[in-house]
Amino acid sequence: MCGIIGITSYRPVSSAIINSLKKLEYRGYDSAGIATLSDGVINEVKSEGRVDNLEKNLAIKNMSGSVGIGHVRWATHGIPNTINAHPHSSDNVSIVHNGIIENSTILKKYLIDKGHVFKSQTDTEVIVHLITEHLKKDSLKESVIKMLKQLHGSFALGIIFKDEPDLIIGARRGSPLAVGYGSNENYLGSDSYALKSMTNKISYLNDGEFCIIKKDQVEFFDEKGIKVNKKVLELSTDEQNYEKGDFKHFMAKEIEEQPTTLKNCIKEYVDTINNDINIHNFPWNIKEISSVTLIGCGTAYHSCLMAKYWFEELTELDVTIDIASEFRYRKNRFKKDNLYIFVSQSGETADTYAALDLCNKHNVKTCSVVNVIESSIARDSNFVLPIHCGPEIGVASTKAFLGQMLVLYILVLKMGILKKDLDKDLYLNKIKDLKELPKLVEETLLTENKIQTVSSTFTDAKGSMFLGRGFSYPIALEGALKLKELVYVHAEGYPAGEMKHGPLALIEDGMPVVVLAPRDKYYPKTISNMQEVIARGAKVLLITNKSKDEIVSENIWETIEVESTNDDLLPFLLTIPLQKLAYYSALKKGYDIDKPRNLAKSVTVE
Ligand code: AGP
Ligand code: GLU
Repeated sequence: MCGIIGITSYRPVSSAIINSLKKLEYRGYDSAGIATLSDGVINEVKSEGRVDNLEKNLAIKNMSGSVGIGHVRWATHGIPNTINAHPHSSDNVSIVHNGIIENSTILKKYLIDKGHVFKSQTDTEVIVHLITEHLKKDSLKESVIKMLKQLHGSFALGIIFKDEPDLIIGARRGSPLAVGYGSNENYLGSDSYALKSMTNKISYLNDGEFCIIKKDQVEFFDEKGIKVNKKVLELSTDEQNYEKGDFKHFMAKEIEEQPTTLKNCIKEYVDTINNDINIHNFPWNIKEISSVTLIGCGTAYHSCLMAKYWFEELTELDVTIDIASEFRYRKNRFKKDNLYIFVSQSGETADTYAALDLCNKHNVKTCSVVNVIESSIARDSNFVLPIHCGPEIGVASTKAFLGQMLVLYILVLKMGILKKDLDKDLYLNKIKDLKELPKLVEETLLTENKIQTVSSTFTDAKGSMFLGRGFSYPIALEGALKLKELVYVHAEGYPAGEMKHGPLALIEDGMPVVVLAPRDKYYPKTISNMQEVIARGAKVLLITNKSKDEIVSENIWETIEVESTNDDLLPFLLTIPLQKLAYYSALKKGYDIDKPRNLAKSVTVE
């Protein structure tokens, strides 16, 4: 699920592989390794933990070979130790693998019966032995085709062979894989980001395809071995040059970038002169759509929930939302007049992709809201709405969340006006307000000091709660998720009105509780719920928006005020202090902010 790299060149490749592995670190991993082929011998070096550990290994320094593969592992089968780290090799081949081989137990038994001896606890090692077995009687290409056919599950593979001095096989099913083109050298990588320091020319493998990469030639094949042609895409300079700069972490940079990413996105979708929304090429008649289903995972699911509130407020559409891993296995009633919207930053999340695939098989209308426009989800949906955020490297999603919400809000407005559910004047006013949003986010980002001070309370807490009503409820869920994933503190997002039905029992003296109560139509009700938790000893951090009216409540521990705008857009502003709260709390703990433990950026296993 983490990352692979392969390079075939006219010069030694080990240090370039290490550099590319460093680019893949953001995806979250637990061990790393590299193998090169030199003078007909495959050498491998592996280590637990960070790529730095691998780089420090003396054996790497002396590693020669102009063809090689590298891996950062996110363990699915077998503990994260050096033996289970990839590559896995036999005398003939060496393999790196992302994903899961679901039938590995059956294959392993079959291979053991044939006399193969296994060294690791991984599912991956069956691939090594399978291909070694086929190579005994078949050509290399035949062996690859036969081996791929035997595998169930998801994979991106990189394979080198003892008898092929400049050749790498790449193959994908489920997990993403890209090929990069250089001069007299070519590359294989999990994403374009891993290859960007070496090339800006990229092609992507489609599901089921494999490729044969030599230093001066790349060929692509479908699963039957029939040659396929590929488009070569050029990466934009923005994508190529994305670095941390002066920021300590990508997450800090990505939080601060939000006014710019929102501005860029508004530029793409909003005709600021005529106050209209520039989405004109829907592949269906919007008037024929009577309901919408939004599907995503994690943060992307929270933006789906947010969109449900907006759709219901501003259109007459029926709206359901679903977590992708639930949707894909439920007995769904697929409807032709329903629009299925898939939200994903990476566009590669396995569950979201599977849910999309299921919809495509039922021939219903699909649309995706993605950041990575070359991704599988973007490629396979009928209609794509990019969020134009640029690369997001921090595992904790920040700017992509605001980008997803922005594009969904724009879609709500457009569908509302096209279906005549939304009054024209209201539509124009909403667009006017939207144009001000980047500036308001920029001003809200200045609420720095107070968040730094309150963050130590969350750092040391046993647990915490995030409460919100209506438009603020999805943001409460997102605030709690950010704290969980970065600070490893139990945090629960809850509808403010639901506390008395159980969770109020959790409140004890000094427990930090974040209450999101902007001055919207829910304000008085949320303030009453806030009193109920204060009365039971909670230390309440109230997040509201600036107003000339005083807050009529006592015993609030701290208050943070964001800028003011119309009710629909307040969720964008409320998100900012929550992102910073999680960031500073994690910083105090000294945690690895861009790569939180146990997590991966692109979740390509289910
Ligand atoms: C958010 O901070 C997460 N790390 C995670 O929940 C993420 O949003 C989820 O895995 C979905 O990813 P996607 O947007 O790339 O599909
Ligand atoms: N399933 C393999 C393993 O556990 C690959 C994991 C990965 O995607 O990194 O080794």
